[in-house]
Amino acid sequence: MILRHIQRLTHILAAIYVVLSVLFTTSTLLSSSSTAESPPRSRWPWSFVSVNFTTLQLSGPQTQLILQSPYLGHHAIDESIILSKAFPHLMKPSQIIPYYYRAEGNFDREDITITSLVTSNRFEILARLVERYQGPISVTLHINNATENVSYLLDSLHRLYATTENMAKYVDVHLVLDTFDRQFNTWRNIARLFARTDYVMMLDVDFYLCTDFREAVRRRWNKDVWKMLSSGRAAFVVPAFEYIRYEEGREFRAFPRTKKHLMQLVRDRRLAMFHEGWPAGHNSTDYERYYAARPGEVYKVTQFQSSYEPYTIFRKDGPPWCDERFIGYGGNKAACLFEMWLSGMSFYVLSDHFIIHQNHLYEEDARKNERRFNRKIYAEFKEEACLRYLRNFHELGILKTPRAKNAIEECGKMKGIPRLITQVRDVSSFRPRC
Ligand SMILES: *[C@@H]1O[C@H](CO)[C@@H](O)[C@H](O)[C@H]1NC(C)=O
Ligand SMILES: *[C@@H]1O[C@H](CO)[C@@H](O)[C@H](O)[C@H]1NC(C)=O
Ligand SMILES: *[C@@H]1O[C@H](CO)[C@@H](O)[C@H](O)[C@H]1NC(C)=O
Ligand SMILES: *[C@@H]1O[C@H](CO)[C@@H](O)[C@H](O)[C@H]1NC(C)=O
Repeated sequence: MILRHIQRLTHILAAIYVVLSVLFTTSTLLSSSSTAESPPRSRWPWSFVSVNFTTLQLSGPQTQLILQSPYLGHHAIDESIILSKAFPHLMKPSQIIPYYYRAEGNFDREDITITSLVTSNRFEILARLVERYQGPISVTLHINNATENVSYLLDSLHRLYATTENMAKYVDVHLVLDTFDRQFNTWRNIARLFARTDYVMMLDVDFYLCTDFREAVRRRWNKDVWKMLSSGRAAFVVPAFEYIRYEEGREFRAFPRTKKHLMQLVRDRRLAMFHEGWPAGHNSTDYERYYAARPGEVYKVTQFQSSYEPYTIFRKDGPPWCDERFIGYGGNKAACLFEMWLSGMSFYVLSDHFIIHQNHLYEEDARKNERRFNRKIYAEFKEEACLRYLRNFHELGILKTPRAKNAIEECGKMKGIPRLITQVRDVSSFRPRC
C-alpha cells in the first residue's frame, strides 16, 4: 500500500519537476529577451497589460499578449502558447478567445466578479443574471462547433450585447470553441483567470440572486471575516435553495427577496435546500443553523465532507484552482471546493443571504454516465490531492498547525493515509531522480 503511495508520490514529484523546469525555462527565455538596461528582476509576477481586441477574429492573425513588469520590461508572447500552458488539459483541438467581449466598465479591484459558464442555449438566463447583479461578470461561453451554427450564435450574442446596456457595461465573455462539451472545471478556471477584480464568486448561471451579498461583503460589516477573505484563507458561502414544485421554480419574479419570506416558504415546504435529494452536495452548510441564525451572523462550516459544493466568494488569487481532469457531470465542482478545504481555507456561511435555483430540465442521460466515470476519477483525485497537501505542509513544517487541520482530518478518513501521515517524515527524504 505504502509502496503504491510512494510510487504515486514519485510521479507527482516528477510532474512538479517538469512543470517547474518549463516555467523556469520560460522565464529564462523571457528574461533573455529583455533589454540590457532592464534592472535585475525577481522572476514573478507578470501582468497582462494589453490585448488588442479589435484584431481578434475567429480565424484572424495570431494574437499576442504583452507581458510587462518593471523587471521584465515589455515582452510579447503568442497568446496560444500561454493559453495552452494555462489550460493544458483542455481537449484539443480547441480555441480559447479571452475577452471575446470585454465590458467597458473599469471595475473596482475590491469588487466581486461573478464567474460562470454559459452554453449557447442559456443567453437569456445570462442576461437575467446581468440585470440582477449590476456588477462585474466573467463568463466562459462554450460553443460546440461540430453541432452548432457558430456564426448564427455569435450573431445572436452580438445582438444581445448590442441591445443590453448592462451586458456591455459589466460582462466579459471568453469564448471556447471546440467540439467537446462539459469541460466545466477548465471553463470555470478560464472565467476566474480573466476576472478583473480581486474577488470572485463561483456561481452557476441559473441561480437567481435574491439578496445583495455583494454590498454586504464590500461594506465589510465584519472586519475579522473580511480579513480572512482578503488573506485568501476563507470563502463565503451563499446558501442555495430550490423550489419543491418544478413550476414554482420557473417564476423568478415571485422568488423571495428577504430571509423572512424565505423562511415562510421553507416552513410551508415550498422551498428547500438545493438538491435535497443529494444532501451531501450542500448539507455541510447546515441549513438548520442557517434557519436559526441571528441577523448579521456569519458562522463557520464545521461538518465538511468531500462532496460539498456550495457557491462561494473567495479571493481570485491564492486559493487553489479547479482541477481540470474532470469532464462532464459529477465531482467537478466538488473538486474545486475540496482542494480549497485541504489547502486550509475555512468556509463561512452568510446567514442573511441566499440564492435560488431557476428550474430547468437537465440532460439526464449524459449525467448518469458521466457521474459513473467521474466517481472513479474523484476518488483518485482526493487521494492524490491529500498526498500533495500533506507533503506540502510537512515540508513547510506546519503539519501540526491549524492550517493543516482540514487536510489531516479529511485525509485521515481515507484508506491508508493515516499510516502515511505518521510516516511522512521518511517519505520527505525521498527525492526524484533526474
Ligand atoms: C488594434 O489593431 C487595429 C487593427 O490592426 C489597429 O488599428 C488598432 O490601432 C490597434 N489598437 C491598439 C490599442 O493597439
Ligand atoms: C472546431 O474548432 C476547433 C478550434 O478552433 C477547430 O480546430 C476544429 O477544426 C473545429 N471543428 C469543426 C468541426 O468545425
Ligand atoms: C446558420 O443559421 C442561419 C440562421 O438560421 C442560417 O441562415 C445559416 O444558413 C446557418 N448556417 C449554417 C452553416 O448552417
Ligand atoms: C449530509 O448528508 C450526508 C449524506 O446523506 C450524511 O452522511 C451527513 O451526515 C449529512 N451531514 C449533515 C451535516 O447533515
